[in-house]
Amino acid sequence: MRTVRTIAEVRASVADAKTNRKRVGLVPTMGAFHEGHLSLMREARANNDLVVVSLFVNPTQFAPNEDLSSYPRDEARDAALAEAEGVDVLFAPAPEEIYPDGFATNIHVAGLTDVLDGASRGAHHFDGVATVVTKLFGIVRPDVAYFGQKDAQQVLVVRRVVRDLDLDVRIEACPIVREPDGLAMSSRNVYLDADARRQATALNRALDAAQALHDGGERDAGSIRTAALKVLKDAGIHPEYLELRDAETLEPVADTARDTLLAVAARVGAARLIDNHVLKAS
Ligand code: PAJ
Repeated sequence: MRTVRTIAEVRASVADAKTNRKRVGLVPTMGAFHEGHLSLMREARANNDLVVVSLFVNPTQFAPNEDLSSYPRDEARDAALAEAEGVDVLFAPAPEEIYPDGFATNIHVAGLTDVLDGASRGAHHFDGVATVVTKLFGIVRPDVAYFGQKDAQQVLVVRRVVRDLDLDVRIEACPIVREPDGLAMSSRNVYLDADARRQATALNRALDAAQALHDGGERDAGSIRTAALKVLKDAGIHPEYLELRDAETLEPVADTARDTLLAVAARVGAARLIDNHVLKAS
């Protein structure tokens, strides 16, 4: 595996693959790898000739009050893990490489970003994601890019950018990887102390309770939401949001007749955590 820092080096690393019509897979990340990240790398490795992983803690998707400065960073550990997964190129640029002086472009996806994490974290968040991901697509020119369903809204936003800007890349969404007790893996789980770590399991338990109701035939969004909220309340968690929305459009829904995204965000101890289930229409 080669670790490269500049756009020119990435372009040189993929040039051969591109000329020889080899398939290039990209996994965009902010590092602090866990099994969720590694599952994306494995999927990319199994389906591509050349695998590029980007490691860039993107400043523009953090609000001033968020955890940009404390976000876990350990490039040496990440490089070893990526290498063990058979990654070919690790692209770990400095912020100035991505945002040189005079950088002035912003990609804003209207509508989809007004709700859930867009409302909770502010519009800048998905603008930052959409802009950096579009840049990464321009730099690497991947055939396929891999994202986790853990960030369900992010997947929808990226898909919309690709569609609206006619970008020639296929987006693959991979399943959420969880700890044995159900907690969705996240780089931010390192912020949890022992008490908060226990409390955090309520997020997926709340989603499971809702899922069980849905699987048992309940279709009323209000009833399903109430059941999930009760699990959180019993665990002492007051979510930033817990909402059922259409899994494609993120419009609010009254029932779960179509595929429905049940998404939750909550502060637990020192961490802000998100999780979701898709309640499938039967
Ligand atoms: P990051 O949080 O590092 O996540 C990188 C990728 O790993 C994302 O696609 C995310 O959805 C996926 N991922 C995280 N936890 C996961 C889990 N438990 N199971 C499955 N996949 C998981 O998401 C970002 O970085 C950034 O916003 C980025 C897209 C890199 C743009 O800066």
